[in-house]
Amino acid sequence: MAFLKTARRTALALAGVGLSALAAPAWAQQSLVMYCGVQEEWCRAMSTAFERETGIKVAMTRKSAGEVYAQVKAESANPRGDIWWGGTGDPHLQAADEGLTLEYESPNNKDLNDWAIRQWGAAKGRTIGIYSGALGFGFNTDLVKKKGLAEPKCWADLLDPKLKDEVQVADPNSSGTAYTLLATMIQLMGEQKGFDYLKALHKNINQYTKSGAAPAKAASLGETTVGIVFIHDAVVFAVDGAPIKPVAPCEGTGYEIGSMSIIKGARNLENAKKFYDWALTPAAQALAAPAKSYQVPSNKNAPVPPQAPKMSEIKLIDYDFVKYGSSEERRRLLSKWDNEVKNLPK
Ligand code: F6P
Repeated sequence: MAFLKTARRTALALAGVGLSALAAPAWAQQSLVMYCGVQEEWCRAMSTAFERETGIKVAMTRKSAGEVYAQVKAESANPRGDIWWGGTGDPHLQAADEGLTLEYESPNNKDLNDWAIRQWGAAKGRTIGIYSGALGFGFNTDLVKKKGLAEPKCWADLLDPKLKDEVQVADPNSSGTAYTLLATMIQLMGEQKGFDYLKALHKNINQYTKSGAAPAKAASLGETTVGIVFIHDAVVFAVDGAPIKPVAPCEGTGYEIGSMSIIKGARNLENAKKFYDWALTPAAQALAAPAKSYQVPSNKNAPVPPQAPKMSEIKLIDYDFVKYGSSEERRRLLSKWDNEVKNLPK
């Protein structure tokens, strides 16, 4: 009897193994691992809508641009992610440069703005532009008044000693926003003067955050007077009625081309391509504004959110995405920033 019981249990267990062995690949075909580089709310809106439309289950994690790059690199021998959607273009270009992402041409490329296609060309087809946005800062209007300060309008204004410990920005190692600041200062002023500026700014920095948009929230809550962020990230809080004023700096500024790449060795490659094509459609890009993301979309037929800062009214530098997205240059500048700025005594 005991023998019979054991035999029955073994048979049942084997049947179970058989079923799950059959079920696993079917489930796997219906999944997608997404590394998301924008704000959580927009990441969720995208993954939910894609799941609803295709039945493909999305496992999404939100991380800053430099962090996703580091993860994709660390996993390159055994890739876990399928699609890297969003985040500033520079780390996407660096990953392309290092062969960590895959070449792909979507049929929807034909509907994209030139700047998005230029990004694709620069990466030899390994990344594509999905949105753009200009760098600037947001300041807390109440705190500026309370401290008797003039409203900051220029990058130079952020060096005012009265703003000691009152400016916040992210760390360029983790954040694409902060790397854009580093590359922007060098392009605006030249390398020596750009680093001099960042060293002087360091005296006023209260915290280098991990995520790029965090200083906008801190400024809106009055935890810092100024937050250096993409302008659209300050607009989010202004639209909600917080006492924060977004600024496009008077000297001119850099901008991002938020990007998307398919990870080389993706286990769910066909689903990654499906997501990629879908993410370039006007309908998918229109999900940004309801999720409080006010970047300019890359599809010419996608609606531009009325809250999006007007790129044509901002003094933009001719940002060299190829140079500042190259692997060697990014590595060199980040290590120079670590050595010469981050650990400076105040
Ligand atoms: O989603 C907001 C946003 O500013 C994007 O426009 C940008 O690509 C991304 O966040 C940058 O995030 P981080 O600086 O954390 O890498």
